[in-house]
Amino acid sequence: MTERASEPQNLSFTDLHPSMGDSRTEILAGLSAENKTVNPKWFYDERGSELFDAITRLPEYYPTRTEKQILSDNATAIGQRCTEDCILLEPGSGSSEKVRLLLEAVKPAAYVPLDISADFLRSAATELATEYPWLSIDAICADFSNDWSFAEKLPAGKRIVFYPGSTIGNLEPDAASAFLSQLREVVGDGGGAIIGVDLHKSTDVLNAAYNDSAGVTAAFNLNLLHRLNTIMDAAFDPSQFRHEAFYNEQARRVEMHLVSTVKQSVRVNGTHVDFEQGETLHTENSYKYTIDDFADLAAGAGLMPEQTWTDEDQLFSVHYLATT
Ligand code: AVJ
Repeated sequence: MTERASEPQNLSFTDLHPSMGDSRTEILAGLSAENKTVNPKWFYDERGSELFDAITRLPEYYPTRTEKQILSDNATAIGQRCTEDCILLEPGSGSSEKVRLLLEAVKPAAYVPLDISADFLRSAATELATEYPWLSIDAICADFSNDWSFAEKLPAGKRIVFYPGSTIGNLEPDAASAFLSQLREVVGDGGGAIIGVDLHKSTDVLNAAYNDSAGVTAAFNLNLLHRLNTIMDAAFDPSQFRHEAFYNEQARRVEMHLVSTVKQSVRVNGTHVDFEQGETLHTENSYKYTIDDFADLAAGAGLMPEQTWTDEDQLFSVHYLATT
């Protein structure tokens, strides 16, 4: 672990060095399974983060702009829930763009952005620290999907977790419940969580959102193969795979896959992974909830629903949940 005094003065940076060895083992296990899977967290290398950014601006991709509208329309009400001097924690903070909509209303004593990508986090946190000189920022590079040791590093104070973007939708309902319980533990008593959740809706709208006409989502999905080539010393040829995304209404999730267009054997980390023609690598699930179903899930994990905000078309929801 390295800590260095960084400029500007209202910023500290802690690097908990997520280990690559563990990651390779985890990725290889997914590629070797009966139904091949990769954790969607691997989408976000530099190119992947750029492509995701482009997705958020697509006409078909409604979640980002809808959530931002909900946050800015209700910032005052959200701020009242939080009370001043809280510690605002954001797992997977990325560019820290959405938190800007809340900072003036929440006025936290400290903001703690957590991200797996050290360079991206450092530059995003530096920019934010310069823009908000009154805000104390403690940036932590960690993989919050399996390492919560960062909780010991947090400043004292009432804790509020900000988890926007329906990132929670990447998890199977069981894992989402376990994740929320984990959040509840990190928050402790007398704190809360602000969580953005995409809502169940018509299949056509969902299918369009993950099959945009400009092909950006396809490029985002296929970019994962470049990432695997780098991390796993693999030889995936993206031209031998195609993007597939569809709403699985029964499971209430959008599934993204990479379909092998030929029978092939791909070198991966000193071994080989075989694909039948038409066999898929399942790259992402994006679960959609009703407001009530999400509230029940959160309550079951000890995060009590206090208030929910939505847009007039009920496309997206933002929940304030409290710990007691
Ligand atoms: C960041 C997980 C919320 O599921 O909508 C967008 C990622 N994948 N288009 C989502 C994503 C394809 C996004 N989340």
